[in-house]
Amino acid sequence: MATARFDPAGPLRGTIRPPSDKSISHRAALIAAMGEGTTRIEGYLDAADTRSTLAAVAALGARVEEGPELGHELKITGVGLRGPRPAQIDVGNAGTLLRLLPGWLAGQEAGEWTLDGDDSIRRRPVDRVALPLGEMGARVEAREGRLPPLTVRGAPLRGIDYEMPVASAQVKSCLLFAGLLAAGVTRVTSEHRSRDHTERMLAAAGASIERASAAVVVRPTKRLRPRRIDVPADLSSAAFFVVAAALVAGSEVVLERVGVNPTRAGVLTVLERMGADLEVHPEGEHGGEPVARLVVRPAPLHGTEVGGEEVPLAIDELPLLALAACFAEGTTTIREAEELRRKETDRVETVTAALCALGANVESTADGMVIAGTGGLRGGAVSSHGDHRIAMLGAVAGLASAEGVEVEGMGAAAVSYPGFEADLRSLLS
Ligand code: S3P
Repeated sequence: MATARFDPAGPLRGTIRPPSDKSISHRAALIAAMGEGTTRIEGYLDAADTRSTLAAVAALGARVEEGPELGHELKITGVGLRGPRPAQIDVGNAGTLLRLLPGWLAGQEAGEWTLDGDDSIRRRPVDRVALPLGEMGARVEAREGRLPPLTVRGAPLRGIDYEMPVASAQVKSCLLFAGLLAAGVTRVTSEHRSRDHTERMLAAAGASIERASAAVVVRPTKRLRPRRIDVPADLSSAAFFVVAAALVAGSEVVLERVGVNPTRAGVLTVLERMGADLEVHPEGEHGGEPVARLVVRPAPLHGTEVGGEEVPLAIDELPLLALAACFAEGTTTIREAEELRRKETDRVETVTAALCALGANVESTADGMVIAGTGGLRGGAVSSHGDHRIAMLGAVAGLASAEGVEVEGMGAAAVSYPGFEADLRSLLS
């Protein structure tokens, strides 16, 4: 895989419209495929993960029509809630596709599907969806009961009351999809909130969804009619520029029309608490999601504690918060984040190893990291281990470091953000 070098840089200045939201794009393609008629998706993310989802819905029988430039408009003609045809699905590197799709397939009258993917996917646990689906009556088999490949056979489902052991939007979404097809009521709860895009999008498509504090309740639904879905820019992608601008002296970066759904925006709350100079200018709603213009400048940061309900709200940005913590004064502790160990890589270990290789003082713990801020980073070499967020973390670290960073496997960024390196370098010119 290609190696890229990121040297300490002058200020980052300019305006970026980050790519479209990955979580919402996956859901858009799946819900459009479950729908009746044609859905227009404005701003579908053009990246490896979301391409896997388009290929999956096409294999299930949906018609996918792309314009000359994917990011603009995409049309998907659905097969209806009860219409997916049997198929073998390659989810690539996409954990969200792996966990969401079985919910829809499990409730079909008949048919058999297998889901498999790359080496990283084969290490991602699926018992978290297989077990509750099994309680609903689904016929789901996984390797060693918990790993892909996963086989799903259609079966009659019944609604259940399920309390998730960890707050996972992927598990919740899977069960909500299954609940559309199950007899009776399906209720999913968890101690902490997780991203709620599925609830918003299913309700907009006409499903019977109710939300009451920590619970989401779904009832059997005859048909979905999404018609049009607008995808805002991805806060998880924007966050790389937020942290870069917060760390590189003299920077001022503006990020436009970024999704700031409160169930995703933990990274902003934590950075503000650390002392970041961060303006959030609300720009109304885009596709049922709040969006905002973000303006970021550097400021002295101090250490903080991240745990409990904040973890699922910032789960994909915890690596970036760990990087920011290296530049802060004092210690930052990330706890109750064991889920980080179940991502594209074991991010407790890959983040700790990467930051230590660059001169940071980071210790991994069973459920997180302890970062002793040293006010800066020396630099050096890191490997992405094929994990998109670790590749982009290394790039941001390089710009803010004293000696620069070489990132082995930078190409992994294409999983969520193919244009990342070009966008980052455009802010330096
Ligand atoms: C996602 C939910 C999160 C997140 C992942 C995308 C989603 O996982 O880490 O990148 O789109 O539902 P969990 O909520 O399962 O932890």
